[in-house]
Amino acid sequence: MNKQAIGVFDSGVGGLSIWKEITASLPYEDTIYLADSKNAPYGQKSTEKILEFSVKNTEFLIGRGCKIVVVACNTATTNAISFLRSTYDIPFIGIEPAIKPAALQTKTNAIGILATKGTLSSELFHTTSQKFTEGVTVVEQVGEGIVPLIEAGKIDTQEMADLLKKYLNPMLDANIDHLVLGCSHYPFLIPTIKKIIGTTITIIDSGEAVAKQTKAILERSNLLNTQRAAPHHQLYSNTDTSTLKLMLKNSKEQYSIEELDF
Ligand code: DGL
Repeated sequence: MNKQAIGVFDSGVGGLSIWKEITASLPYEDTIYLADSKNAPYGQKSTEKILEFSVKNTEFLIGRGCKIVVVACNTATTNAISFLRSTYDIPFIGIEPAIKPAALQTKTNAIGILATKGTLSSELFHTTSQKFTEGVTVVEQVGEGIVPLIEAGKIDTQEMADLLKKYLNPMLDANIDHLVLGCSHYPFLIPTIKKIIGTTITIIDSGEAVAKQTKAILERSNLLNTQRAAPHHQLYSNTDTSTLKLMLKNSKEQYSIEELDF
């Protein structure tokens, strides 16, 4: 079991922001990454649909022997992780918007959160938000349209910058000092976001925390690969793989990319 891969899935290429953190902090672990780009964006879909896709992705990864599954998608985590945990017999790691650290650290008493509709309307998000943000103004914004642009490889474009300005300007007006990126696609936009909000607002994403948690759970479950060999990473997409390749172009990892119909 220990030599089996860590499975990672997302609605598309966004989960690579988490995958990068995982491969950096677990250098001897093989991984299998699944980009369900055909069904992206999940963010505007019903809970039933998100659940259906999450089950399909999980069964793909379990079918390939993964010892643990990282749900590298806030939308899938907030809508489906409790079902996955109660249905399958392996550990699951999820990703949720990091509102707790933002709410604890804010000095202006105002934080911004950019996430999908599916995440912001989920019960899990509401519960967490209510628990930690008493007395704090939380400016919630659905990032509609951002994920399709990223999936199309249009990251560093005027279209993206204009969309981000539209979403971030009201947060600047509300005097936020922390911006939570509540979607695993968004860390790829940090350079553009910084140009809009400047350097005094702290941007928080959950990638590093997810990698840390994955390592801790593997350790605790005695599932770490004890062989010190160079790992291999298999990446699959159910659409054209050009955006996946674009996102990985500076990666030092050894990987293969395949387009599969799933
Ligand atoms: N990357 C996903 C997330 O973290 C989902 C984006 C989408 O498919 O809408 O929420």
